[in-house]
Amino acid sequence: MKYSDKVSKIVYGGDYNPEQWTEDIWEEDMRLLKLAGIDILTLNVFNWATLQPSEEEYRFDKLDKIMDLVREHGFFVCLATSTGAHPAWMARKYPDILRVEFNGMKRKFGGRHNSCPNSPTYQKYSVELARRLAERYQSYENIVAWHVSNEFGGECYCENCEKAFRLWLKEKYGTLEELNRAWNTTFWGHTFYDWEEIVLPNLLSEHFEHDRTQFQGISLDYRRFNSESLRKNFQAEYEVIKKVTPHIPITTNFMGSYKPLDYKDWANYLDFISWDNYPANEDSPAQIAFQHDLMRGIKGGKPFVLMEQTPSVSNWLSYNALKRPNVMRLLSYQAVAHGADGVMFFQMRRSVGACEKLHGAVIDHAGHKNTRVYREVQALGEELKGIGENTLGATAKNSVALYFDWDNWWAIEYSAGPSRELKYKDEVMNYYEALHRQNIPVDIIGPEDELTPYKIVIAPTLYMTKNGYEEKLKRFVEAGGTFVTTFFSGIVEKHDLVVTGGYPGPLRELLGIWVEESDALPPDMENEFIYEGEAYPAKLLCDISHLEGAGALAVYEKDFYKGTPALTAHSYGRGRAYYVGTRSSEEFYTNFLKKLCEEQGIKPLAAPVANVEVTKRINEMGSFLFFLNHAGESREICMEQDGVELLTNRAVTKGERITMQAKDVRIIKLERKDNVQTQASMRLKD
Ligand code: GLA
Ligand code: ZN
Repeated sequence: MKYSDKVSKIVYGGDYNPEQWTEDIWEEDMRLLKLAGIDILTLNVFNWATLQPSEEEYRFDKLDKIMDLVREHGFFVCLATSTGAHPAWMARKYPDILRVEFNGMKRKFGGRHNSCPNSPTYQKYSVELARRLAERYQSYENIVAWHVSNEFGGECYCENCEKAFRLWLKEKYGTLEELNRAWNTTFWGHTFYDWEEIVLPNLLSEHFEHDRTQFQGISLDYRRFNSESLRKNFQAEYEVIKKVTPHIPITTNFMGSYKPLDYKDWANYLDFISWDNYPANEDSPAQIAFQHDLMRGIKGGKPFVLMEQTPSVSNWLSYNALKRPNVMRLLSYQAVAHGADGVMFFQMRRSVGACEKLHGAVIDHAGHKNTRVYREVQALGEELKGIGENTLGATAKNSVALYFDWDNWWAIEYSAGPSRELKYKDEVMNYYEALHRQNIPVDIIGPEDELTPYKIVIAPTLYMTKNGYEEKLKRFVEAGGTFVTTFFSGIVEKHDLVVTGGYPGPLRELLGIWVEESDALPPDMENEFIYEGEAYPAKLLCDISHLEGAGALAVYEKDFYKGTPALTAHSYGRGRAYYVGTRSSEEFYTNFLKKLCEEQGIKPLAAPVANVEVTKRINEMGSFLFFLNHAGESREICMEQDGVELLTNRAVTKGERITMQAKDVRIIKLERKDNVQTQASMRLKD
């Protein structure tokens, strides 16, 4: 999908909050933003108190002026609904809108992202505001997207949520008998005889820390319920807006791998994905790349929009380091390289008060354009104009899929045992990074996605299998696919109840092994295994397995389970299923996945060069190879095909060596040899 039919280039802009400023500043903003190559403004993100000063009164005069002003100056608008923070009067008059925290504390007015999702007041007035905005501004042709609320998130433990949770459970389980079974409530005598006996799982009940519960079943269901409650808030606004402006796409800004919300589920209800990229100082390029791939993956590979990033500096880290010269440009292109059709910032002009006054902005407190940040923004604006519609709508065609599932994430990390060190994302990242280092591009997929487009499917710590996923995997391997999973897989079904009869439960037949026990190693202990003549460490968990058809590719070298399989492969139909029974090192993942890719005939996009990231996007205009030099020094890359450098229009030839300066970017547009079928059969833009 293209961001909107109205745009014919990568949209460039971001959050603009003129309501924080006197009107004399606005004209100057228009001038400076235009000059910087900005073409889209996200308006009205936190404006509810101005728009609705009291229960009876709505006032749009200021927003009208702003909307007219930006239209006159030819900007596109991404119009937000302002429902990410409620007005003070509303909190005072209707305390049901205030959340209750995990520890049972009822909040007062303050902060943002602060409304209870099950508050009747919030539900009524948020939708009412969205409806009025849609009706009022429907004729503004420059609105290219709706931005519902802002960064939905958090959770609430109030009485309304508790009541709604009981209804949700009734709907889900039908009877208390079924609920008692699913939660295994005979344990510690927790049997429920009346729905009213069920209370929310928090510090007052089943939890002793935020992520540590004594009853996984109820805690897992609460997470699902909370994600759905917030999603319903989004949907309610979506529906009223859609009725009025059916042609304008609607989104809300996600936060990458944000644990509390099942974005894979949410993605079904958004017209396009947008997300906010705020890496911490220490985040690696691969970690950021993973987030982009995840955001592309949740919507089946469709392009997304980078809704926010700071042009220079954040305000909420412990140490808010500046983005070094050219890093903003590099990170912007990294987003595009992974599928973004929009590059946007928070924010256009720096606030003078409250907690974001020291957050980076296109226009700084100095108020003019003679700043490093402004110059960098302007230079990128120029370049994006030059790229035009080239990369719009382009997608990736990858052979490797990495499975990622929020339910699995929640369940693994609620699990008491086997190791507190076991973190789902860490395990997924071990595999992602190994592929990333080798320029093997990856699609992140979820439980509902088809496996047929792929040659390799990797599902690290597939602890929870649900809805017959094992059958899908079997069909995939039977047909010639390579499947990889790891320790702590096939343990539970969707309620977090163990599948008895021997681990890895439903995956046992496919993997051809039986895992009898699992040994958790403290961080300072290691076992070892030898794979293809090299010794590698075995860390975190060591599964002790028996072969039931699979062959051992490596065995443990130490301890009482010395000689038992650490790594197995099972031929199944025309394919193979691998089980990595332990966590190992970077070198192991790299070598192991390299071998599997070779076996499946999957080639890197380009020969790996340290810290140079490579991605590819394809549309009917061509295919685009992105080279991103994340290193602090120059790097040499070698062209493996003829093409044209998109940013300079310079022809490059096969075999040519190009020196990339530190933090530089090269986009090579390739002649499409595989291009013949494009127009009619692909239609990637739709
Ligand atoms: C988030 C929010 C923005 C702003 C930025 C600051 O992403 O959506 O409103 O607060 O953080 O980094
Ligand atoms: Zn609540």
